[in-house]
Amino acid sequence: MDGTFNENDISRVVEADRAHIWHHLSQHKPYETTDPRIIVEGKGMRVWDQKGKEHLDAVSGGVWTVNVGYGRERIANAVRDQLIKLNYFAGSAGSIPGSNFAEMLIDKMPGMSRVYYANSGSEANEKGFKLVRQIAHKKYGGKKHKVLFRDRDYHGTTITALSATGQDERSAQYGPFTPGFVRVPHCLEYRAFEQDGAPQENYGVWAADQIEKVILAEGPDTVGSLCLEPVTAGGGVITPPDGYWDRVQEICKKYDILLHIDEVVCGVGRTGTWFGYQHYGIKPDMVTMAKGVASGYAAISCLVTTEEVFDMFKDDASDPLNYFRDISTFGGCTAGPTAGIENMRIIEEEGLLQNTLDMGDYMLDQLNALGDKHAAIGQVRGKGLFLGAELVTDRDTREPVHESKAQAVVGDCMNQGVIIGMTNRSLPGKNNTLCFSPALIAKKDDIDQIISAVDGALGRVFG
Ligand SMILES: Cc1ncc(COP(=O)(O)O)c(C=O)c1O
Repeated sequence: MDGTFNENDISRVVEADRAHIWHHLSQHKPYETTDPRIIVEGKGMRVWDQKGKEHLDAVSGGVWTVNVGYGRERIANAVRDQLIKLNYFAGSAGSIPGSNFAEMLIDKMPGMSRVYYANSGSEANEKGFKLVRQIAHKKYGGKKHKVLFRDRDYHGTTITALSATGQDERSAQYGPFTPGFVRVPHCLEYRAFEQDGAPQENYGVWAADQIEKVILAEGPDTVGSLCLEPVTAGGGVITPPDGYWDRVQEICKKYDILLHIDEVVCGVGRTGTWFGYQHYGIKPDMVTMAKGVASGYAAISCLVTTEEVFDMFKDDASDPLNYFRDISTFGGCTAGPTAGIENMRIIEEEGLLQNTLDMGDYMLDQLNALGDKHAAIGQVRGKGLFLGAELVTDRDTREPVHESKAQAVVGDCMNQGVIIGMTNRSLPGKNNTLCFSPALIAKKDDIDQIISAVDGALGRVFG
């Protein structure tokens, strides 16, 4: 580059990208011979790349984020106006959009009461883990500090969030990890046959009981919280089996363990309710959310707690350490809650929760119909517009396809101009689930286009 900068010269953008960008979750060797993909523009459900090629985005920005679709001028305008009025002040003070959005959010979360702003899902989860440690120190002499997490779940990329990951390929090579994080078994009924002692009936209750076993082995007086995704996302789109959540809640109550629900993917509409936990009658103590909160129009994450949890941090004002001594600098950016307000209004005004339920049912049916045609589809799972199709070499043995096969399906769809996802370097030997999460504005035609691309791809990859 010679220093002059022409933002419209796309070949220079590609050159600068290849020279200077370290892409997320990417192996860079291929970029020595191929161009990195640059996404230039988005509108509704579609994005265009540097070559002007149109893609139907069936994964809402790659990672379940752009819930209300691209090109929402209304969000951009609200953020612009707010930035001119006040872009930032540290979160030790309040802000108008911060208060207004918190009120809207709490209105959708009966039983919850306090909103703590941060920037990313990982960070919000870390706040939740810190609360547990501080409560342990305040009430239990530091003892009740452990956080339980589940096999196949993911809670973020920082070292402590990775200490709570049930995805071994995500955490490999990043140890040593933070002590005090303990894994419990997954609840994927389709793979129950791989779990010792799993029954044919009442699997959900059995899977929850495995959590109790871990609690008893660790000592209930050492366990502070249980952190779970309501529907596991990157670990294979796992919907909970019947009876699971009721039993999980009984167990948490029995041992005085806080229930931390990670809504980073499910939160704000993805499953057709405001929050994924609301499908299952769950009463959380803490909820974390990020991606869909502002649909990617601004960086924002939230940790939401009950008043009961909050109260534990304000009981003794004379003790200088007796409050949540935590800050997120950019949790004070006003763009996040401003975008969050408009995002929520759009979902309400356009009836997107109902659309998500309707289109989710339609897409689930269409994926199941593909299963009648393609033996590689072992199981289709999901809730709302949050769906997955697990690919197997043999339906009887449920042997997972090699990840290269799933990658080939994703690549074939991409060639057809449809972006789908898959479990990505997460689970050793089990990166075999295709992931679908179109924006909540999806219509039947969009779903049909996605299904038709997957149909063609499966036919070409598996014959
Ligand atoms: C369930 C879940 N929790 C937390 C995170 C971490 O969020 P972030 O990447 O914003 O830190 C993710 C990211 O994919 C996620 O899927």
